[in-house]
Amino acid sequence: MPYALITGASKGIGREIAISLAKRKYNLLLIARTEKLLVDLAKELQEKYKVEVFYNAIDLSSADAAEDIITWCNKGGYDISVLINNAGYGLNGAFEKLPLDEQLNMMWLNMSTLVQFTHLSLPLLKRHSGKSYILNIASTAAYQAVPYLAVYSATKAFVLSFSRALKLEMKGSNVSVTCLSPGGTDTHFMERAGMEGSKKIMKQAKKFNMPADEVAEFGVKAMLSRKSEVIPGFSNKITAFSNRLLPKSVVEAVAKGIYSPE
Ligand SMILES: NC(=O)c1ccc[n+]([C@@H]2O[C@H](COP(=O)([O-])OP(=O)(O)OC[C@H]3O[C@@H](n4cnc5c(N)ncnc54)[C@H](OP(=O)(O)O)[C@@H]3O)[C@@H](O)[C@H]2O)c1
Repeated sequence: MPYALITGASKGIGREIAISLAKRKYNLLLIARTEKLLVDLAKELQEKYKVEVFYNAIDLSSADAAEDIITWCNKGGYDISVLINNAGYGLNGAFEKLPLDEQLNMMWLNMSTLVQFTHLSLPLLKRHSGKSYILNIASTAAYQAVPYLAVYSATKAFVLSFSRALKLEMKGSNVSVTCLSPGGTDTHFMERAGMEGSKKIMKQAKKFNMPADEVAEFGVKAMLSRKSEVIPGFSNKITAFSNRLLPKSVVEAVAKGIYSPE
């Protein structure tokens, strides 16, 4: 079986995507910063699903990281047919109060790293003799501006727009591009975004968050069916759809109410 290259594979949605692909007998290349988590996951998946798993612990927010990973893949001679651009994070708070360097770092990881991986992987994906797939992880935050997640939601709108455009550019090739836009999902996302102190957000999360394994399985199925754009979960779909019908000012005011500091 060919290899799937997965960024942000140590936890959350990326980890569950790794499991979902291992079940389908894909060999795996796991990327994230936390080596211990990658070691444990690699061991577990090798034993359970009898697939080959290699990992590389690296901070993907540095400018050379994606290139280093592709060099590592080339040295390994892996036949890559799947690229999962999943590593990313959010920052909740007032734009002018959140540190600028952290916001720029997030922009780099959520957008530039994803573009780098996509550009550098395309020759490998095209070289694969069968069908190849790219799965980009955006967010339901891509579908409207979100005050107090201002930069994060803008990065995810970028991911969605880029994915749809590239999908059409790849028409006629062996590569398909799918964009998965999860809503709230039970992962480490809220902790890293600094949302855990907000009673409002945590209440909302308790009601609506989806389990990461369901989101991952939904995304993998959509990717293998070569779909363009998918949103997991009924309430997330309804919200994204109604956002198209309602005036932007209403949708953005509701988002502001949820994410503003208490
Ligand atoms: N959870 C949600 O509610 C939600 C909703 C919509 C979209 N999303 C999107 O889903 C994707 C996955 O997030 P998640 O919810 O699964 O969050 P998570 O549990 O925090 O996982 C994030 C993954 O990205 C990796 N990562 C973060 N920064 C990195 C860096 N600088 N270099 C390399 N790897 C890095 C993390 O590993 P290390 O910490 O080991 O580096 C981890 O494996 C993100 O793109 C996120 O924006 C999440």
